Formats: sequence, C-alpha cells, structure tokens
Amino acid sequence: MSIKSIVEQRLSTAMIGLGLPTNTSPLVRPSVRPEYGDYQANGVMRAAKLAGENPKSLAEKILAAADLSDLVDFAEVAGPGFINLHLKKVFIAKKLSENDVKKIFKREPKIVVIDYSGPNLAKEMHVGHLRSTIIGDCIARVHEHLGNEVIRQNHMGDWGTQFGMLIAELECHMSSGETAELVLNDLEKFYQRAKARFDSESDFANKARKYVVRLQSGDQHCLRLWRHFIAISVQHNLSIYHRLNVSLKKDHIKAESSYNNKLEELVSRLSLSGIAIDDQGAKVIFLDDLSDKNGQASAMIIRKSDGGYLYATTDLAALEHRAKILRANQILYFIDARQALHMKQVFSAGRLAGLVSDEVSLEHHPFGTMMGKDGKPFKTRTGSTVKLENLIDESIQRAADLVKRKNSNLGENEILEIAKKVGIGAIKYADLSKHRLTDYIFNWDAMLSLNGNTGPYLQYAYTRICSIFKRAEVEMTECSAVVIINNTEEKTLCLKILQFNEVLEQVAEDSLPHLLCSYLHELASAFMSFYEKCPILKSTVLGETHQSRLTLCSKTGETIATGLELLGIEVTEKM
Ligand code: ARG
Repeated sequence: MSIKSIVEQRLSTAMIGLGLPTNTSPLVRPSVRPEYGDYQANGVMRAAKLAGENPKSLAEKILAAADLSDLVDFAEVAGPGFINLHLKKVFIAKKLSENDVKKIFKREPKIVVIDYSGPNLAKEMHVGHLRSTIIGDCIARVHEHLGNEVIRQNHMGDWGTQFGMLIAELECHMSSGETAELVLNDLEKFYQRAKARFDSESDFANKARKYVVRLQSGDQHCLRLWRHFIAISVQHNLSIYHRLNVSLKKDHIKAESSYNNKLEELVSRLSLSGIAIDDQGAKVIFLDDLSDKNGQASAMIIRKSDGGYLYATTDLAALEHRAKILRANQILYFIDARQALHMKQVFSAGRLAGLVSDEVSLEHHPFGTMMGKDGKPFKTRTGSTVKLENLIDESIQRAADLVKRKNSNLGENEILEIAKKVGIGAIKYADLSKHRLTDYIFNWDAMLSLNGNTGPYLQYAYTRICSIFKRAEVEMTECSAVVIINNTEEKTLCLKILQFNEVLEQVAEDSLPHLLCSYLHELASAFMSFYEKCPILKSTVLGETHQSRLTLCSKTGETIATGLELLGIEVTEKM
C-alpha cells in the first residue's frame, strides 16, 4: 500500500470511530511545503461542516483518536483544520526497502478501452495526429502498468467520399502499368494530385463520384482498388508508430469501415424504438439534454436523405461494440477539442438508445493545438502541414548534433542509436509535459535543452546514474540493501521515489500525462541534491551507508526508466 493510502486509512478509521459520516475522506496529499510536514490531510474542514462541528477541535479529536505512532514523529493541527504529518525516517526507509518500482498494488482490474490516434488514411500522417497518438499511448501504458486490461482501438478514417477520387486516380496510374506501391510512395502528393484533378476535370470528378457509390454498394473492382490503397496507407502509419515508439500495432486497428455492415441494422433499430425520427427524409436523433439557450434540442443526423451514413453513425456503432462486445468499464477518447460537440452527442445518444449502460464511464479527453513560433497552428515555412515523417527525421538529426557536441568519443552508429531515443523523446516529452488542455508552442531549442523539464534532461540524469554503477562495478538491478536515512536529502529522495505509484493513479484518474513529467523532473532534481550532498563512491563512505546510497541510486534509476517508458520514451546508458 502507498504511504498516502496507509495514512488515509488510519485517519479514516479514527474518523469513523468518532461517528463521522463514512463518505467523508481525510483527503491526504503530499504537503506543498516542507514546513507543513510530508503529508497533509485536507478533508477535516468538510467533515466538520457535514457534522456541524468546529473544524479545529474536530481535527484535534481525530489526531487524538488516530493510531499513527509507528508512522509519524509528530502530527499537528494547522490553520483552520489541516492536519500536518511529519513521517518517521525509519518508516520511510522501511517502505522504500520493500518498494518494487515494477510492482503495483493489487486492486480490482477494469477493462479500459482507449480510442486514440485514429488518422484519416486518405492522407499522410501529420503533426495534427501527434497529440492524440502520444497522449493516448501514454495513458494506455499507465493503465496497463496499474493492472487494468487495456484495449486499444485505432478508429482509422478509411471510408468516405474522398476515397472515390483516390481510387479513380489510382486506377489511372495502374492501368498504365505503374505499381501501386510506387504511385503511393508519397501519399500526400498523390492526394493533392487527385484533388487537383477532381476540382478541374469534370470527367474525372464524375467518375470519382460514381466510384464512391460503387464502393459503397460493394462493387468488386472498386473494393479491390480501395483495399490496395488502404493497405499501403496503413503500412505507412504503422511505420510511423514504430519510429515514434508508440505501442499501436496492426491488431489495434478497428477502422471506420469495419462497422459498415452494422449501420443499417443499427439505424432501423433506433427508428423502431422511436429514438431516431424522420426529418425531411433523413434520420435524426434529437437530444434534449444538449438543447441550446432557446430550448432547441441538439440534432444528430444518423442517416442522410440520400441513404448515406455519417461519422456519427459509425461512432454509435463503435460505442455499442466497445460496451457490449469488448465489455468496457471505461471508454476514453483522445480526440481534438474541436470534436467536443460530436462526442457529447454520441455519448448522449448512446445512453438514450441503451447502446451503453450507465455504469460505463464515457470520457472525451480533448487537447489543445500545437502552435508555431508565430502563435498559429504549426506549419512548414511554405505554409503546408508538417508531415510526421519529416518531423521525426529532423528531431533525430538535431539530437545527433547534440550528442556529438556532448560526447565526441562515440562512434557514428552509437550516435545514431542514441539520437533516435533522444530526438523522439524530446518531441514526446515536450508535448506530454504541457497540460493536455492548453495550446503550446513547438520549439526545437527548448525541447532539446539539457536543462529544465525536458526529455533529454531526464535521459541525461539516467545516464549519470548508470555511470555511478559502472564506476562501482555493480549492476543497477542488483542493489537492494537496507536503506538508511541520515539527512534531509536522503529523506526527500526516498519519499519522492515512493510517490511514483500515487502519481500514476492520479495520471490515470485525470488522463493527465504532465503530472508524470513534473514528478519525474522533481525526482531527478531530488536526486541531484542528494548526489551533491551525499558521497557514494568515496573511500570514506563505508559499509551500510555505501550500500544504502547505491540502493537509492538504483531505485531512482529504475523509477526514471519506468516513468519514461510509461511516457513512451526510451533510456540510454550513454549520452
Ligand atoms: N479520424 C478522426 C479524425 O481524424 C479521429 C477519430 C477519433 N475517434 C473516434 N471514435 N471518432 O478526426
């Protein structure tokens, strides 16, 4: 159990013993300042209000009743009714000796479906897909680490009117003997060529429109071209995921088209039950809970008057699949803030129609935009969208320059291997360390800096710990001596290491990766203070103290490596 939970349990027991309502929590948190102790309980004021008591004297009563003797040196009531707890060093040291970074606390596992990335396959992956992909991937890793069953769903956009134009263009090229692989080698150019022809050649545009209809009605020729196109585009996406160290694999793809054969039945079911209503030839769901200021219900079209289905229809089918077939307890969507209304409609209609029961938690976790230095959405110098392929190449190039400057004894291959980890880590960390909801400015120099809250800083901190073990001629993983706390630096570091799991619980609860980044940065800083104050390898540092300090280094190193791994960032032993 975490320290936070242990303290919380002891205080809760005391509160229940005093007859306070069982739903009041002591709300234990790490203290915000050292003079407030190591942990503080913030929940007494609320409990006092509910019980009609004076908060300060209630806090005193709770403290008198609580059994904390093995945990704290002293505890005190502060301000209007806070409880500050100063933990015993031996208690912290004991917890740390038992602590295993890789092991999590046992609890009831949940099935968590996570919808992220979901690029449209008509085009090449670009920076617009980055945030959903890496934030979603981090949250998936964290839930898995905490023992939940995670089901990744990559809701790729592989269907829709654009595909008529794309397969018409593909057909032209293939009939003149070119291979699809070659023609689609640059997906972006291909899309632009098809679009230009669609806009300027009426014969081509007519053919493209006809192909959409043929595709939708299952015409074999059109389907074959479409499959060809999709296969190549999927391959491109998978290679980007691989380069980005994103855990999405082919098996996680559950694209829009996979729901095609469910839509007709779904819409007729919703019509029969009176949830979808005929409106000028279309089928519409009116959502009263989302009505506007004038009381006008929000309308969600699920079938157009020409019989076509929409993005929303597919999302309803996907929702039902996730709730009923995948048996999700929780469904998380990492999609751009601009789709907020769409998601609200899908959730509201899904509940109304009974596609998903009330117990299943449905959560849209939106995010802000990645901006350029000019404060506008990030673009290339010529104003086009930045392809992920190019962004990755540039990050590796820049990281290689950095590594060369830092350590000139490394060989070319070694530099490249390190640069891949550092470059990708820099991009991901820069994104994940910002609050998910805010826009942020993309800045190469800041993200590749070796100082501050950056990926390279943490990777570098890890290499420093590795070098301690090299000098000591011990394996980092082979240290598990009894930890002894002699000074504040050691105590602070121990507590930080122990808070890893508490932070992960919070990250999962709020889907906020930046909490993990801030934590890792604080951990690395606590380590640096410890390292300055506490010699490890000096000949004067003997026996138990030497072993204890090496163990602290090892636990710090493992925590940094595990934390970075949960962010989707790899560590390196040299840099
Ligand atoms: N393909 C969509 C887009 O690019 C994102 C899909 C998100 N997932 C979903 N279930 N709607 O905007």
